[in-house]
Amino acid sequence: MASTILELDDIQSGVLRPRPTPYAATYVLFRIDERKAGRELMLRLSSVVSSAAHPVSPAGDTWVSVALTFQGLKALGVPQASLDSFSPQFQQGMAARAKFLGDRGESGPENWEKPLGSPEVHVVLTAIAPDAERLEAAMERARKTYRELRGVTAIWRQDCHVRPDEKEAFGFRDGIGHPAIEGTGVPGSNPNESPLKAGEFVLGYPDEMADMPPIPQPEILGRNGSYVVFRKLHQRVAAFRRYLRENASSPEAEELLAAKMMGRWRSGAPLALCPLHDDPALGADSGRNNAFLFKQDDAVGYKTPCGSHIRRMNPRDADVAGVVRIHRMIRRGTSYGPSLPQGVLEDDGVERGLMFAFVGAHLGRQFEFVQSEWMNDSTFFAGASGKDPVAGAQEGTGVFDIPKRPLRTRLQNLPQFVVTRGGEYGFLPGLRALRWLAELKT
Ligand code: HEM
Repeated sequence: MASTILELDDIQSGVLRPRPTPYAATYVLFRIDERKAGRELMLRLSSVVSSAAHPVSPAGDTWVSVALTFQGLKALGVPQASLDSFSPQFQQGMAARAKFLGDRGESGPENWEKPLGSPEVHVVLTAIAPDAERLEAAMERARKTYRELRGVTAIWRQDCHVRPDEKEAFGFRDGIGHPAIEGTGVPGSNPNESPLKAGEFVLGYPDEMADMPPIPQPEILGRNGSYVVFRKLHQRVAAFRRYLRENASSPEAEELLAAKMMGRWRSGAPLALCPLHDDPALGADSGRNNAFLFKQDDAVGYKTPCGSHIRRMNPRDADVAGVVRIHRMIRRGTSYGPSLPQGVLEDDGVERGLMFAFVGAHLGRQFEFVQSEWMNDSTFFAGASGKDPVAGAQEGTGVFDIPKRPLRTRLQNLPQFVVTRGGEYGFLPGLRALRWLAELKT
């Protein structure tokens, strides 16, 4: 039991605490040109970042998280021996991992929005508030603080939001499934999944392999920290709608096809619990909408196709190579850009999509594994060929199987609906670590 007593007062609240709904969020990236100024920024941020132990934010109704990239730690003057102790994927950065992640062609780093993926990105600040007005007021106060800090420059900002119905740009309710984590007191969304070891998400604690995963050194820097993955994902909403229209014979059949691709109806209701029709009340009921497994009554995927987005991203108890519990993630998706008006099937050229954040202690076996093997590998799920039909790195020739009696349906020529606009790997230090960074003397 001792191993699951988490030092919640040293862990950034953004790591563990679920976000409110609805909310407005912003991501601001900083470049550190002078390490002294960077350290001063760490000091100032350490006083506004709340811990997972305290439900009240020092910044009032705005919640702030701060992450550093590998280049950011370097810019702060973190000693080489310490830099070397971070995970190899983090040291390389997301752009260098592009091939492995399926970021090719339009999604390739050479086409990313500047400065994403460049060595200029040092600090990622995330602020969330109940609405855009309150967020802007907090950002105005913050701007006054960082503008007077010569040697630190804000180089990019992305505003995002979560709507009251929590729907993302393709029209599906998001933010439903999340793991229970031992020692946090935050309940998981699936009563059939026993809580995961805290070391899967926070460094310094035993994980599901009964190991104490290696933590960045010195211990004061690594302990109670987590890795975080930021990705800006553009969604081709018109193309998604057209694909449904062209491959279904009626509006009802379009909805069923969309649900088969996602594994949930747009309301959030899972096919596993209501395979034949949508059930909006179930979709909105957080006590029931994630209470299911796959293997026992749907091994073949007649209800939830094995290749659908949610079944690939979390196969639960279904038979897949590997142990599902070591590939789980804390996931926070926030939409950006305006919605494409209902019924529009032509692209309006407007940028819209998801700012994704994944939090975990293992970049390699969590985000990178899920992205490369479960999302983009066509052989992983026996019987279900193709890549993820919603978010996979399709090349226009992909297929998606929908098991059905007497014969399965095979969708052909899946276009790419999601394009990577950029991203980075970050380290979310604990609060003591933030102060340690502020006090570096090198
Ligand atoms: C723009 C791209 C994406 C869209 C529109 C999208 C949308 C969704 C939606 C609507 C859900 C169901 C709601 C829920 O369970 O919370 C979901 C679940 C999930 N997605 Fe995605 N997603 C995208 C990309 C990704 C990526 C890149 C990953 C990871 C590499 C990912 C991992 C997951 C996971 C782990 C779940 C929960 C599955 C479960 O526990 O049942 N998604 N996504």
